[in-house]
Amino acid sequence: MTATLIDGKAISASIREQIQSEVERLIGQGVRPGLAVVLVGEDPGSKVYVGSKERSCKELGIYSEVHRLPASASQEELLALVDRLNRQDNIHGILVQLPLPGHMNEKAVIDAIAVEKDVDGFHPINVGNLMIGDDSLLPCTPAGVIEMIKRTGVDIAGKHAVVIGRSNIVGKPVSMLLQRENATVTMCHSKTANMRELTRQADILVVAIGRAKFVDRSYVKPGAVVIDVGMNRLENGKLAGDVDFEDVKEISGPITPVPGGVGPMTIVMLMQNTLIAAKRAHGIE
Ligand code: GUN
Repeated sequence: MTATLIDGKAISASIREQIQSEVERLIGQGVRPGLAVVLVGEDPGSKVYVGSKERSCKELGIYSEVHRLPASASQEELLALVDRLNRQDNIHGILVQLPLPGHMNEKAVIDAIAVEKDVDGFHPINVGNLMIGDDSLLPCTPAGVIEMIKRTGVDIAGKHAVVIGRSNIVGKPVSMLLQRENATVTMCHSKTANMRELTRQADILVVAIGRAKFVDRSYVKPGAVVIDVGMNRLENGKLAGDVDFEDVKEISGPITPVPGGVGPMTIVMLMQNTLIAAKRAHGIE
């Protein structure tokens, strides 16, 4: 049996349509949502990401500004730019593309972004609000993962969800969000003993460990929902997830491919966060 594909392109396209009509509604009320993206240096991957964020904004009618600083820029220059964007009324979301050059302090930069404009959901106050279940801007990839699971029609409540990976950007926030949806959550990581014993109990398995094709069918309970957050560049130049898709799809339930799975969801959730931030800034429901 071959599993159902969770099609990130199709899901993100349908969310995009909703966002676009919401943006039109806001514009009708005199508010155009605005996103500022800051790129420091010349990292090729970062340039590609920033380009696609800019394009997405344009397609959806969101105002966007891209600020490019040279890799030699000082921390003070970057903080001064963030401070200016914090005070700019036409900007509702600020994203500083990571990684930053080695001489910069990423934490100090994230901490400097206004909490209500932190569309990455990386600011410690947004992280804390996520933890205690208060309203916050949710980190984009984890929010996309939850949306994809919901759209499989599987009810998360009461399920055993196992997350492989404990990063601040994916593993930890995904675990918190799954728990918020009333899953029983187990977090695994590189030091976990007997990982298979745990993952084979998972009704929902989220993999964000950063190792190409790490998860084969021996890790997976038949019928489980499998979400692959991995993006690994192979020696042949191809992109591979953390899950051995061809192997696992023979026994799993709904499963995400790479590419075309979680990837397209991340940008669309960023657009959604920008829309949410703009609505909150102007008291629009
Ligand atoms: N670099 C890679 N992914 C991300 C992301 O989600 N946000 C930011 N700011 N930088 C990144």
